[in-house]
Amino acid sequence: MADSEHYSSDEDFAKAQDAEDVLGPYRESFHIPPGPDRSPCAYFAGNSLGLQPKRVLERVNQELFDWATHGVEGHFKGETPWFSYHEVFRESGARLVGAKPGEVVLMNSLSVNLHLMMVSFYQPTSERYKIVIEEPCFPSDIYAVKTQLAHHGHDASKALLTVSPRAGEHTLRVEDIEALLEREGDSVALVLLGGVNFVTGQLLDMKRIASAARAKGCMVGFDLAHAAGNVPLSLHDWDVDFACWCNYKYLNSGPGAVGGCFVHERHGSNLDIPRFAGWWGNDPKTRFQMQLIPEFTPREGADGWQISNPPILALAPVKVSYDLFDEVGMDKLRAKSVRLTGYLEFLVDQLGGDAVEIITPRDPLARGCQLSLFIREYAKEIVSKMQADGVVCDYREPDVIRVAPVPLYNSFFDVWRFANSLKRCVGGS
Ligand SMILES: Cc1ncc(COP(=O)(O)O)c(C=O)c1O
Repeated sequence: MADSEHYSSDEDFAKAQDAEDVLGPYRESFHIPPGPDRSPCAYFAGNSLGLQPKRVLERVNQELFDWATHGVEGHFKGETPWFSYHEVFRESGARLVGAKPGEVVLMNSLSVNLHLMMVSFYQPTSERYKIVIEEPCFPSDIYAVKTQLAHHGHDASKALLTVSPRAGEHTLRVEDIEALLEREGDSVALVLLGGVNFVTGQLLDMKRIASAARAKGCMVGFDLAHAAGNVPLSLHDWDVDFACWCNYKYLNSGPGAVGGCFVHERHGSNLDIPRFAGWWGNDPKTRFQMQLIPEFTPREGADGWQISNPPILALAPVKVSYDLFDEVGMDKLRAKSVRLTGYLEFLVDQLGGDAVEIITPRDPLARGCQLSLFIREYAKEIVSKMQADGVVCDYREPDVIRVAPVPLYNSFFDVWRFANSLKRCVGGS
């Protein structure tokens, strides 16, 4: 239960919080889509598609300009030479997920990267061949895992282990994951879980899970689609083997943005790890020797998993976004996020009754910014009605509304608007 002593449901309270908010001015850095009355909507779908930073247009235009001006020479000339464009994310990408420079690369998109990581880190043997996933698990991850199992000749009905919430509960218990690993760990090749669950918004204790998995000799990877840019991460110190995320949710880099990938340095420095190779993963010193040196020499670090040359026009928005995250810093974002989501929790609790139930953990350490609301009746209709109030959030079949107050651009007044609209729409007025 959010602390009622620190919050109030008065509109003035929300506005006073915004006036004091040190991150408030960053809202101006984003395009906020208009609602039906043409004024900015209260946008809570940043867990699905983050808003566009205003500087993106200028940055993409710069690349178009460099292309027009330099043609192929743009690989080595221009403001950010394309040959090494992916390297501009080494430091900022590492800071974002708590990695060392060289452990992070931006490439492809999330599901593709999950496959590439499994090519390297799911190496089943006759004794150790199972994969652990969670319930509910994002469909693309299930498809990826099942097709990887099938590719290696394994039957998902025997080789796929699922950790689920206990009966009557909505979220996972880490002790249940540990118990599963204790029982089955010797036959598990890979543990692959969502760092923040896409339905419930639960933030897993990745450090504890990685430690339990590694103690049993399993590889451990995380899908960080809902975690990157949302919560502080320390992937290197947590000893995670690999992780993949998308940049279009909390990282505001545009629909289908290029994804991110972490490979722990103990693997990055092992050039013998099997992988699907392409020229951009080759050592840059010999990358252009083409037919003269046909053998693949992987570059050290996560860069060695790249296949193709990167899509510069698609990386340009990511550069704007990562610069913004660097400027603000995760500590300030997280501090505001905890308070903003706590305020949302407080206001939802004020509704009373049983029409709406928060299924996200109450402990701020066990969630990011998203709250997931179980709506007893008419969830889909309620989301559409709220849209007419200029409040945008999203609906997951059959009865969940996901609401993500994003600290970079959402205000306390946005949250207040959400709660008032929800009250009106649930109440049927
Ligand atoms: C948890 C999770 N995993 C995977 C994906 C798939 O991402 P992509 O389409 O970039 O492969 C998504 C997309 O929303 C997601 O939320």
